[in-house]
Amino acid sequence: MAHTPLSHRSVLVVGASRGLGLAIARTYVDRGARVVATVRGDVSKSLRAVRDAAPDRVEFEHVDIADGAEITALANRLRGRTFDLLFVVAGISLAPQSQVAADIDDDDFARTLATNALGAMRVVERLHPFVADTGTIAVLSSGQGSITNNTSGGFEVYRASKAALNQLMRSFAARHPNDARALLLLAPGWIRTDMGGAGAGLEIDEAIPPLIDTVEAQRGTPGLRFLDRTGAPVPW
Ligand SMILES: NC(=O)c1ccc[n+]([C@@H]2O[C@H](COP(=O)([O-])OP(=O)(O)OC[C@H]3O[C@@H](n4cnc5c(N)ncnc54)[C@H](OP(=O)(O)O)[C@@H]3O)[C@@H](O)[C@H]2O)c1
Repeated sequence: MAHTPLSHRSVLVVGASRGLGLAIARTYVDRGARVVATVRGDVSKSLRAVRDAAPDRVEFEHVDIADGAEITALANRLRGRTFDLLFVVAGISLAPQSQVAADIDDDDFARTLATNALGAMRVVERLHPFVADTGTIAVLSSGQGSITNNTSGGFEVYRASKAALNQLMRSFAARHPNDARALLLLAPGWIRTDMGGAGAGLEIDEAIPPLIDTVEAQRGTPGLRFLDRTGAPVPW
């Protein structure tokens, strides 16, 4: 399928080793963008293949978003760079669907919040200076972060972490009222990845192209929005 030209030509994808981050990095490269893809461990074979397909347009970087010092170190290494789009993808879900919050292991609770809320926001805080004045900052939230839509429960701590992320992004947006950049919290749908599991309703290749189309359409519209992959608003 032919795609409209990208509005974001240089993209920093945080959390690109596998799953949705890998697919986002690959899709941007396939559509002609320059991509810096971060991993926290070794570069995966799949991500290496993305670079092999376009060696002059793909770079690797390292950051563990649960480690504030690593985020600061990445910011120092990126000094002088400008990206059209910062896409924060990294996230974790440690507890089974049925586990209520009171029963989770304390360390798992702390790690989930420290990664999905604090870690993602630290990436936004430390790296937003490298996003062009008219660029876009996108963060993978989740439909499960919607407080309004939580009528079923389940994944209690994961949900709480994404709701916290959403609230922290609203504070960021409130502190930057004159920012011309698009600020996006994205709910991609339930997708078959290591996190989403085999029972998820969507393949990665069904979900990521429309998600990227939505991000591309948002450039130039300032302010914070919580959107699904089709661009429809998700209730907070
Ligand atoms: N799949 C879904 O149905 C779904 C739905 C809604 C939202 N999301 C969100 O989409 C994002 C990606 O999910 P996914 O399904 O692709 O999950 P996944 O397959 O489990 O992949 C998670 C990714 O996040 C990285 N990561 C985890 N902790 C990190 C850390 N501390 N520092 C840096 N990278 C870290 C992982 O790197 P390693 O390889 O090093 O572990 C991996 O690249 C998450 O934020 C998730 O909450 C997913």
